[in-house]
Amino acid sequence: MTVKIAPSILSADIMNLERDVKLAEQDGADLFHIDIMDGHFVPNMSFSPSIVEGMRRVTDKPLDVHMMIDNPDAYIKPIAEAGADTILVHAESTKHIYRSIDLIKSLGIKAGVVVNPGTPLETVKELFPVIDQILVMTVNPGFGGQSFIPGMTKKIQRLDQLRQTAADDNFEIEVDGGINNETIAKCAHAGADIFVAGSYLYGHDNIKERIDGLKSLAVDAKK
Ligand code: DX5
Ligand code: ZN
Repeated sequence: MTVKIAPSILSADIMNLERDVKLAEQDGADLFHIDIMDGHFVPNMSFSPSIVEGMRRVTDKPLDVHMMIDNPDAYIKPIAEAGADTILVHAESTKHIYRSIDLIKSLGIKAGVVVNPGTPLETVKELFPVIDQILVMTVNPGFGGQSFIPGMTKKIQRLDQLRQTAADDNFEIEVDGGINNETIAKCAHAGADIFVAGSYLYGHDNIKERIDGLKSLAVDAKK
């Protein structure tokens, strides 16, 4: 599997979002990560679903939408219609995660499930054959700029092992939170494929250098 870098626009300059998206695109971003937060499921608010429509107008790169909201099902269709390529729903945010995944897939886009640091992988194991991505939170969700939780490396490794044991489990493993030049290699070595990075990429002059650096560290660690 290939290495993909997904800048999280949560750390972009909101007043210059189009500029920041185009810059990251030309500097090697493989997809964009969009955090939707409601102030209930997580203790912070961010973008509303309309951000997806705006992002779709300024980039052709895949849009990876991370839903950190209660009652996610109500927003899945509008977000898919606005141009999302993948919608990721937290296992902890809905009583019927299988239904949410079915709904996303019925709209013809990729579906992913997200697990918080304290959520065991066993909670989502039955979804493995039907999902496209599993997002392992490597910080508690809600804010950019937090430190990577070291114990999550083992969790990624266990997930990769589980994936390898079943022929029909073809999902990509995504990591989100505290990804930088010190943590990316550990995650890649453990089996992650998609790396979300917010504060490490945005707010610095040398975004191209940082994306290239992250990619080569991950590629080397995967060998
Ligand atoms: C946190 C969000 C992340 C956030 C990551 O809840 O899901 O996508 O933007 O930010 P960094 O890379 O700064 O930890
Ligand atoms: Zn996220």
